[in-house]
Amino acid sequence: DNYAVIMAGGVGSRFWPVSKTSNPKQFHDMLGTGKSLLQHTFLRLAKLVPARQILILTNSEYVDLVNQQLPDIDNSQVIAEPAMRNTAPCILLSALKINKENPEARMIVAPSDHWIEDEAAFAKDVHLAFEACSQQDLLMTLGIKPTFPNTGYGYIKYRKEDSEVVKRVEKFTEKPDYPTAQSFLKAGNYLWNAGIFIWKTSFIIDQYQQFLPGMFSVFEKSWSKLNTKEEDSFLEKHYPQFENISIDYGILEKAKQVGVIEASFDWSDLGTWGSLHNQLPKDENENVSINAQSVFIDSTNTILRTSKGKIAIIKGLHDYIVVESDESLVILPKTDEQEIKTIRNLVMDKF
Ligand code: GDD
Ligand code: MG
Repeated sequence: DNYAVIMAGGVGSRFWPVSKTSNPKQFHDMLGTGKSLLQHTFLRLAKLVPARQILILTNSEYVDLVNQQLPDIDNSQVIAEPAMRNTAPCILLSALKINKENPEARMIVAPSDHWIEDEAAFAKDVHLAFEACSQQDLLMTLGIKPTFPNTGYGYIKYRKEDSEVVKRVEKFTEKPDYPTAQSFLKAGNYLWNAGIFIWKTSFIIDQYQQFLPGMFSVFEKSWSKLNTKEEDSFLEKHYPQFENISIDYGILEKAKQVGVIEASFDWSDLGTWGSLHNQLPKDENENVSINAQSVFIDSTNTILRTSKGKIAIIKGLHDYIVVESDESLVILPKTDEQEIKTIRNLVMDKF
């Protein structure tokens, strides 16, 4: 039986000021399609597993947002984390909950904030991964052909001689530094980790027992409380004490039994304004406008986003990001897009 887990607890700070701690990017219609990224993710996964078997894990602060955006789901499908502890604790929690309900279950874990256009190709790859992890004890990943030395991704090194669709992973490296990422691109047998994982719940639980035994033992002692009325008070008490660590550092870098399928779909993690700019239709000078009626004069390669219904005139801007939200206006060169995180933190202290 297949289940899905959507991780929707991140903050998306590089999309500030649209994405805010009080309302992060996964709850926004970042692409201007009329649906939020979370809604797109849910619909995409509902084509792969029964809608009742999709869990959404998020911070307690965002539970109301999830319920508003996905009004048809049951309360039991939304799991509230009392503290932000990154992805390792939330994936173990969901694996245990699903495994308790159905010990044979497999699960797909997906981020809530990505863009995937070809849903049929995505479904095909995920089905192959579900098959692979049923036949062998493998943590299955989906790999994306890298195009530049991005230091914000995980890199998956696969066995060169493997010609099968499912390749064995020799090494997983999360967020390498720039020279290392460059050497990976040169070597050729590396893929970016798409952040989507497929495995048997029993096998991932076993891997936590091996590689994050402290985290595992807290849950083990409280196994009886999961999926009962006592679950919330257990989480309230123990969740904040978990190590703040991602699944990538905590499990995937250490695990020996990892497989990868090279994705046959186009993918973007919509991590920055620049990556959003790449995904959207552009005018003849590579400008993008979201929400506004814009006039670009002598301007190139600029992305503009306003709150709904504005008229915007941009003259003489090249390679810029211009973002207006309810209370803020940010104008910065595209080359500095990674700095939004730092800038935001500075500003937050001021106001
Ligand atoms: N429930 C929950 N709780 N979700 C969380 C939490 C948390 O504490 N922290 C992050 N998330 C969600 C985010 O909302 C996002 O959907 C997903 O988990 C991944 O977290 P990110 O913070 O966006 O990770 P990343 O982008 O730095 O790196 C991951 O994704 C890359 C691809 O986009 C890694 O898996 C990389 O290896 C990968 O290349
Ligand atoms: Mg991300």
